[in-house]
Amino acid sequence: MAPANEPLPGTSDLWEPEVTDWVLLEQAARDVFGRYGYGELRTPIFERTDVFVRSIGDDTEVVQKEMYTFEDRGGRSLTLRPEGTAGAMRAIACHGLADGEQLRVFYMGPMFRGERPAAGRRRQFHQVGVEAVGGLEPYQDAEAIAMLVHYLEAIGVSGGRVRLNSRGLPEDRAAVSAAMRQHFAPRAQDMCPDCQRRLDSNVWRILDCKNAACQAAVEGAPKMVDLLGDESRGFFAAVCRGLDQLGVAYELAPRLVRGLDYYVHTVFEVVHSGLGAQDALAGGGRYRIGLPGVKRPLDGVGFAAGMERLLMARESLGLKAAGRPGADVFIVALGDEAIPAGLGLAQALRRTDLGLRVLAGLGGRSLKAQMRAAHREGARWALILGDNELAAGTIVCKTMATSQQETIRRDDLVDWLRQAAAAPAAAASTP
Ligand code: HAM
Repeated sequence: MAPANEPLPGTSDLWEPEVTDWVLLEQAARDVFGRYGYGELRTPIFERTDVFVRSIGDDTEVVQKEMYTFEDRGGRSLTLRPEGTAGAMRAIACHGLADGEQLRVFYMGPMFRGERPAAGRRRQFHQVGVEAVGGLEPYQDAEAIAMLVHYLEAIGVSGGRVRLNSRGLPEDRAAVSAAMRQHFAPRAQDMCPDCQRRLDSNVWRILDCKNAACQAAVEGAPKMVDLLGDESRGFFAAVCRGLDQLGVAYELAPRLVRGLDYYVHTVFEVVHSGLGAQDALAGGGRYRIGLPGVKRPLDGVGFAAGMERLLMARESLGLKAAGRPGADVFIVALGDEAIPAGLGLAQALRRTDLGLRVLAGLGGRSLKAQMRAAHREGARWALILGDNELAAGTIVCKTMATSQQETIRRDDLVDWLRQAAAAPAAAASTP
């Protein structure tokens, strides 16, 4: 058993310098999605369970096996959000969307799925996602995919492959399902019990099953796009035309269905070879979502990328933030008078326009111990203040990289630091 102070399996604590990489992903999302007219939406971490069940679909792995569902004190069934689309649609339905109006939102934050933890598969993971709601144009799908590719470029993730398919409209489903059943029925005895059941209830889900035997049965299954009606085929052709126009490379993935049941028309994912078995960096598509208490279903298109997986892809490309050291300046305070004076000096330096990160040794430790702390914090300068310096109105400035030190007037300290900060780090010895 893991010690009680470790995070639960599939969850993690995030520390610097890793957090620096997370912030980079978040800032790039705000920058790139903002350029396409998307605004940030923050929805609650938990919702009424039916918000997810109704939109994601009863027969999906997520709803059947992975949701963290609990009852509140009033006996209501609530669920920690397993993804962001359903909550975003609930919020947009609540906000109201006029006929012909379009809303474009992006979001980021933790999602929860009770999956078996593995590399790239977490129980609390994080997504950055977008939704463009209220439009029915295929070019919007192409633009969403291009935006995802733009975002990946912005965070330095090269080598992602866009895989694209269409699930068509609900009215195409009967023909597609019949062809699928014809393909899978003779192979049913080799498939997992879930897929044997799905043969009747939701034959498409078999395409998405991770079980090796079911994957083998998928070989040679009919290509969905060939079975769709004219309208859906026309829609898909327009999405492809839009992507060509935008210069986005993609591969056709005739059996891609995706794990959530709300999709109509376009489905896509981006896979990356740096991820191992869980190779999907991002996934998305066009959807039609009906929610409890909402008269008309909402049409939209969007995607979400797993932030842990984006970081894994960056790492596979040798990109990892070095992380910032803890402090620029460390004040070594020695003596009963100097220690409170060091407290005040640190505060004054933090408030200057230099933007310095300043720590002070306030515990009465020895010079040696405080210098060790200054090293540990990565400080560029140690400022030594003893009772003698305090009385004389001076301070000792030590440049850590070179160990050079000089005594200056305390009134000149800000100017000294200004010059030192302006000098290149390696040459900081001679400010
Ligand atoms: P999804 O494919 O279920 O789609 O998740 C999107 C991405 O989230 C995946 O490609 C993967 O990178 C990441 N992800 C999913 N589950 C885990 C996990 N257990 N651990 C780590 N990362 C994970 C959706 O969630 C849809 N809401 C996307 C969408 C938005 N479709 C339309 N709009």
